[in-house]
Amino acid sequence: MIPSGHTAVMASRREPPGSLEFFPTPPWATRALCEHVFPHLGLAADMEFAACWDPACGEGHMFEVLLEYFGGGGWGSDIFDYGRGYRVEDFLDERTVIGSPADGVAPEFIISNPPFRPAAAFVRRALTLAPIVAMLLRTAWIEGVERYETLFRDQPPTLFAPFVERVPMTKGRWDPDASTATSYAWFVWVRGAAPRPPFWIPPGCRKALTLPDDRRRFASQPAAGPLLASVVEWAP
Ligand SMILES: C[S@@+](CC[C@H](N)C(=O)[O-])C[C@H]1O[C@@H](n2cnc3c(N)ncnc32)[C@H](O)[C@@H]1O
Repeated sequence: MIPSGHTAVMASRREPPGSLEFFPTPPWATRALCEHVFPHLGLAADMEFAACWDPACGEGHMFEVLLEYFGGGGWGSDIFDYGRGYRVEDFLDERTVIGSPADGVAPEFIISNPPFRPAAAFVRRALTLAPIVAMLLRTAWIEGVERYETLFRDQPPTLFAPFVERVPMTKGRWDPDASTATSYAWFVWVRGAAPRPPFWIPPGCRKALTLPDDRRRFASQPAAGPLLASVVEWAP
């Protein structure tokens, strides 16, 4: 399964409504998933051939980094059209599907930084669509009676992987120099795998996994311009 059809996108920025909770992910936090968390679960080799889907991809800050690792490419979609060329789809609409498992063209990994309020619904839906689901959420998301009753009791994550460092996320843009008091973790579900003990994402990731080119690629630019390198769509 090789999704293909890379298209350069030139577009101006479009501001989403605040209710959509657009907080772009720092690139290094996505690389920490691929460099530390998936290898800890024995999934490093799977990424080589698999395809991924970020169903709440915003301007692609997470999705474009995933493409550095996923040999099968993938899909980015969002309910809002940010003008970057990704599919515009409501992930919580059950008609929203990508690929066709029957044809062998479907994402093996669904990975995102979903909006906080409907995040449990995102996870429940993702678990029906892909065997591996990874979501970046506040560490505090691990608690809560309603989440326990509607998700964790019957579908506990295979791995809860808190960052030792803080992952600063700012509304509407990635600010490489921001700081935060909020703590984040990767929550990973692997279909058929028993829950494992927590895994602490080691310190030093922010420095080691921030690449020299990241500011140019991902930090917000005031003028219209190609923020991101590519948009990948499956072309039959
Ligand atoms: C926290 S941002 C994450 C953006 C991107 N994944 C990243 O990490 O940079 C949450 C995103 O969810 C999108 N969103 C909110 N509700 C959605 C829905 N029902 N379906 C798809 N996307 C949605 C928002 O537009 C926003 O881009």
